[in-house]
Order: sequence, then C-alpha cells, then structure tokens
Amino acid sequence: MPTIFPKIKKITVHSHAHSYPVYIGHKTVLENMSSVLKPLQLSTHFIVVTSSVISDLYWKKIKMCFPSSVNLERILISDREKDKNLNTVQKIIGNLLALKAHRKSCLVALGGGVIGDITGFVASIYMRGMDFITIPTTLLSQVDSAIGGKCGVNLKEGKNLIGSFYPPKAVFSDISFLKTLPQKHYRSGLAEVIKYALIDCPQLWQLLQKHPSEILKRDPTFLEKIIPLSVQTKKKFIEKDERDFSKRQILNFGHTLGHALEAHDKYRRLTHGEAIAQGMYYATQLSLQKNICRPEAAGQIQGLLKKYGFQKQALPKNISSYIARDKKGDHKNISWVLIEDIGRVQRRPIPLKAF
Ligand code: GLY
Repeated sequence: MPTIFPKIKKITVHSHAHSYPVYIGHKTVLENMSSVLKPLQLSTHFIVVTSSVISDLYWKKIKMCFPSSVNLERILISDREKDKNLNTVQKIIGNLLALKAHRKSCLVALGGGVIGDITGFVASIYMRGMDFITIPTTLLSQVDSAIGGKCGVNLKEGKNLIGSFYPPKAVFSDISFLKTLPQKHYRSGLAEVIKYALIDCPQLWQLLQKHPSEILKRDPTFLEKIIPLSVQTKKKFIEKDERDFSKRQILNFGHTLGHALEAHDKYRRLTHGEAIAQGMYYATQLSLQKNICRPEAAGQIQGLLKKYGFQKQALPKNISSYIARDKKGDHKNISWVLIEDIGRVQRRPIPLKAF
C-alpha cells in the first residue's frame, strides 16, 4: 500500500509478462489516478474503449482523472456478450487506425467483463501488442475478469474460443462505480465473491456469513474488505498457474455447470453469477454424492447461497450435452471442482455419463 495514498489498497500481481498493480478504494482510486499514472510512464496517447451507457455516466469524470498533458480519446462499443466477437475487434482496430494509434499508445478498458476482455485482446494484437490498463466498473470485473490476464472473444461455435493471456499494466478499481450497477449485476459479482470464500478464503466466508445485509446494500466499508480479499484469493491461484493448466482451474468451482447453463440460455437471461451460483449448488451436491463433503458443510454452503438470494433451480433436461462441451474436459471425462469443506476443494475428472 503506497503511503502517499493511505486510502488505496495496492495488490501487486506477478505474471509471466510483468507485475502489475491493482488499486482498490472508494472514490480515492479515481481521485488519485492521475498521480498514480504519471510514474507508470505508460504513454501520452490514451484511448478509452467503453460503452455508451458507461460513457454517459462517467466520461466527464474520467477525463479529469487523466493527466491534463495526455491526449485522451474514446471508442464506443457494445458491451453485450453477443457482440464480444471479431466484428467488434475489427471495429476497434479501424477506429485505432483512424485515431493514428501506434504501439506506444495505451488502451483503457472502461467497463465490465465484456469491455475488458475485448480491449485486452485488441491490445494484445494491435501492431503486435500495445499497453493497456483497465478501469473495471462492475463487481464481477473488479473481483474476477480484470485480474489474471485472460482476454478474448467468442466465435459462433463457442465462448472465448479466441484469446490470449495478456495482462494489463495496471487495474484501477473504484468502488464508487458500483453505485450505478443494477442489483442483478451486482449480485452476479457476489456469486464470484462467494466462490472465493468457498475455495480458499475463511476471512471472506466470515464476512459473508455475518454481514449479508450490509454487503447486499453495497456498504463501502464492507466492499473495501471483500474486493481486496477476492483479488488476493485469485492472485494466489493465477500466480501458481497463469496459463490455466492445473491450479488455476480451481477458480472454476461452480463453472462447469455454470458455463453449460449460460450456453443453454444463449447468454440471454441468466447473469454469469446466477449461472455459477447454480453451478456451486450442484457441485456441492455432487461432492455429497461422492462422499467428499460433509452434509453439514453442504448445508452451510447452500445456506450462504440462499442468504444472497440465489435459490436452487431445476436443471434443464438436455444440460449434459452442454456440459460435454466444457473446454477443460476431454471426450470421456469432465473436470469438476468438488468441495471437501468450506475453504477446501479438489479437481476431479468425472465421466460425463455420471451426471
Ligand atoms: N475466471 C477464472 C479465471 O480467470 O481463470
């Protein structure tokens, strides 16, 4: 934590390419962004990629957060999952060429997961790679997608089928952005926070158990605790296995079924968090069936999910055909993350027909 900015938490994430700071605070991150950016010496030409909704809400404010000496421009794109594709990549690249962006320009992802994924991907390929920073504006992106360097786009054949591991130069997470986030999307991020508590963070588990009303009401005092704890938990896994071949797959707790539900829903109604909450219910049930998890722990997990408004739903009949498409499995087995107890999970290949 830098002493000159006592109200900003700084977590440094080490990646194969470089280490990068994640700044977290309530109002303070935006207020101090200009002073934090200067010593990073990134560029004098910043191009912000964002959606029209975020731009209408925050563009005036964002302009004041950059040093007045830099050239700051903006590209507007759709932030819908269905537009996270190569057409949008091409649109951004066309705009970058028109703006005379060069390898030393710096992209800025201002928005949630879709904006972050696509901007990072463009940064990784434009003129063979340029710097980018992210300003995540949703809880989900602040605790998950902005951290860890995964970026990419969807093909019609499936989600995130093209992409790279390309970490940002810095992440600026200001809790004040969450004020304007619809509750459905806020709770979507909370599902990922619950996941971190279940896989490896007893402190987060305690906070979630004891303070649901404050957390659901977005009390900044609690957000200032749960966001850094989530980032610290993710950091542990990505630093051990950045390329997602082993340990990082633990972060997929709830995602095997969650991704299948999202695909079944055609990414229309279910948020990512709603889908993985269902995934956590069923992964817990599977852990019970395999005698891996104590019934008491399973009851506590289900109780916590309910506390945050996630009710268990019946599964669609044809869901196993969607589970079979999981990228982390092979033709016979699906790689599940099962739970032994609160804070303890294991990866286990399970034959597809068992589900
Ligand atoms: N969201 C899971 C990961 O970053 O690996």
